[in-house]
Amino acid sequence: MNAPATGLTPAAFDLDAIRAQFPILIEKVRGGRLAYLDNAATTQKPESVLAAIDGYYRHQNSNVHRAVHDLAERATTAYEGARDRIARWFTVAREEIVFTRGTTEAINLVAYSFLRPRLKPGDEILLTGMEHHSNIVPWQLVAAEKGAKVVAAPVLDDGALDFDGWTALLNERTKFIAVVHVSNSLGTVNPVEKMIAAAKARGIPVLVDGAQSVAHIAVDFPALGADFFTCSAHKAYGPTGFGCLVAKREHLDAMPPWHGGGDMIRTVSFEESTWNEAPYRFEAGTPDMAGAVGFAAALDWIESVGLDVIAAHEHQLLVEGTALLAEIPGLRMIGTAANKGSVMSFVMTVGHAQDIGTILDQYGVAVRTGHHCTMPLMARFGVPATVRASLAVYNNREDLEQLATALIKASRMLA
Ligand code: ALA
Repeated sequence: MNAPATGLTPAAFDLDAIRAQFPILIEKVRGGRLAYLDNAATTQKPESVLAAIDGYYRHQNSNVHRAVHDLAERATTAYEGARDRIARWFTVAREEIVFTRGTTEAINLVAYSFLRPRLKPGDEILLTGMEHHSNIVPWQLVAAEKGAKVVAAPVLDDGALDFDGWTALLNERTKFIAVVHVSNSLGTVNPVEKMIAAAKARGIPVLVDGAQSVAHIAVDFPALGADFFTCSAHKAYGPTGFGCLVAKREHLDAMPPWHGGGDMIRTVSFEESTWNEAPYRFEAGTPDMAGAVGFAAALDWIESVGLDVIAAHEHQLLVEGTALLAEIPGLRMIGTAANKGSVMSFVMTVGHAQDIGTILDQYGVAVRTGHHCTMPLMARFGVPATVRASLAVYNNREDLEQLATALIKASRMLA
């Protein structure tokens, strides 16, 4: 992404001090130094997040919303306090935050509870060609059931969205729009503001998949103007298995239940049940209290460093890393859009991404290889897979050099 115009530079923060907060970074892998460059898959966790989760289980753990004893109150206070914290992050009311297992579940919730009852035969759901499978398959499932259709907008050769192509697909059949904020495979930052404005002019609801943006770009949900925004805690220094749906209250209030179970009801009899209000109507069963506490702590941590400082540092690494990779013979970057986040995806003439990833691992470099759950995008670029190095705030120049050195070794081994 473009460096934010804050006047802050990477030198404005102490990278060694940041790194020291992530205990896993000093783990030896294959007997040597770890260069963790798989942050788009999941980020590592700082001490404060680990302590918050540990503290929850040591001092607060019980079930929520159910009992009157002291621990139950502590658990409920921690869980609902986390909701307040997360709501503040997105500048929304607490009732507009639904806790989920992550982005995937949040998208499925919207597909099944919001869109499915509204969808008619012939309707279209407009996506882009760079969506993650989790922002394709749920829409396909409801579309197939209702005789509707999923349509995907083209992606340009540099990995940017073909905005004119996307606009040309908007029509009176378009019932819903879903778009990834930052592409997990390419790093492309989509022009979501422009897209939302175009959708609004036609009264079409929009979901923004923020799985890859939440730890890199500030999101003020009302200012963004989307109807739904989804994210996962684990890609933002928080725990796995937790995330949320941010949604306009009017939508949540009108949405029927999706999962049935404890806590989502008001009354139950064998004849009929009635439903709790939003967001509880969508949180059936015992929730992940420690997940909520951990995510809130992760957002506190991000705020303590500063999202603008994080973005500036990552942008600097992206520039340096891209320059290092450009010197490697036979390496082709996939995804070079002008507005790009901290992802370097590439293929090499010497061998398959999987083989390169296996060799990189021998040199302590952790990257993801494969289709990155974006098979249509891989087909668009005519490759079965890429090697993807993705950055977080704790990455440093040494990580990039370790990657470049290992790639040169891989080239020699596979040549
Ligand atoms: N969606 C995650 C990734 O891009 C898992 O690696």
